[in-house]
Amino acid sequence: MRAKLLPTLTFLLAAVSAAPTSTVNGTRFSIDGLTKYYAGTNAYWIGFLTNDADVNLVVDNVKRSGLNILRVWGFNDVNNNNPSGVYFQRLSSSGSTINTGANGLQRLDAVVKAAERTGVKLIIPFVNHWDDYGGFKAYVTAFGGSKETWFTNARAQEQYKKYIAAVVGRYVKSDAIFAWELANEPRCKGCNTDVIFKWASETSAYIRSLDPSHMITLGDEGFGLPGDSNYPYGYSEGVDFVKNLKIKNLDFGTFHMYPGSWGVPNTFGPGWIKAHATACKAAGKPCFFEEYGTPSNHCQIQGSWQKASRDLYMEGMAGDAFWQWGDRLSSGQSPNDGNTVYYGSADANCMTKDHVAAINALP
Ligand SMILES: *[C@@H]1O[C@H](CO)[C@@H](O)[C@H](O)[C@H]1NC(C)=O
Repeated sequence: MRAKLLPTLTFLLAAVSAAPTSTVNGTRFSIDGLTKYYAGTNAYWIGFLTNDADVNLVVDNVKRSGLNILRVWGFNDVNNNNPSGVYFQRLSSSGSTINTGANGLQRLDAVVKAAERTGVKLIIPFVNHWDDYGGFKAYVTAFGGSKETWFTNARAQEQYKKYIAAVVGRYVKSDAIFAWELANEPRCKGCNTDVIFKWASETSAYIRSLDPSHMITLGDEGFGLPGDSNYPYGYSEGVDFVKNLKIKNLDFGTFHMYPGSWGVPNTFGPGWIKAHATACKAAGKPCFFEEYGTPSNHCQIQGSWQKASRDLYMEGMAGDAFWQWGDRLSSGQSPNDGNTVYYGSADANCMTKDHVAAINALP
């Protein structure tokens, strides 16, 4: 009996642990079998920490705050022949290398391990549109072209795919992955929106071929949709939010919001959130309000955006993640870009505790 049962059990357990625990359920998310509105945050820097204790402290505090989703940079690209510190990939026309060493992807391993231990789920983007931590610019430096031709530059795309395969392969069986993300804030200024649409279609299909289970998303700011005539609604950055939602292998829509940087008032928020919820509901996919930040009055300003998003639960909004998390590390305070909300502060109380309580009170 026992001898016969054990292999069956082992097989069943293997099947269970390989199943994704973060999935789409209509226009909502389901994590570990529970479908509800999910709150999260961003800590782009956590994969660059060199101390496991710091990584564990941050993920523990995120969990303790009642947040379920953590978005972290899954890229750190350099061109330098002799890079110092943590980097994940060195890009060069004469041969690129993916750093799987102790100052490479093993740092991301520590984040995934902490997430597995706590049940926090990760969103991992593969490249940055911006120059921070390499980005498109590091590919352009190695392979030529521009940030606008990056999407169609054969050598850049070949290496980008190799990098995706390396990261996805590392965590394909992990239940800590919430979603893979094509890029952080991809833009193609002045381009036809077909450029990003085509690239996102091909890249998401490629990721799906490597990983049939985990969710995939674009990571864009949500530009290009009906609503009003303000700049973010337009198509000048080469992004068509509504069209991109039609891409089969993108499981949900993302959008960001920085009224201060976009030259619109803070009251812009609720309308922007509603416009995306409407598009997501029509597409039958969840919308994730993936980044939103303001340098001051976090509780009052961002609190009103959180409420606007929660109010559209069941109407397209599935969750949100504020920008960004702050914490006290062994080296001192984590990076402060002006939008940081530090764990334990009064602002963190309203941004996390009050928000989570309101989520738990949703019908
Ligand atoms: C999807 O949501 C429905 C309604 O809340 C629930 O009954 C069902 O179990 C959920 N499915 C998954 C896969 O979570």
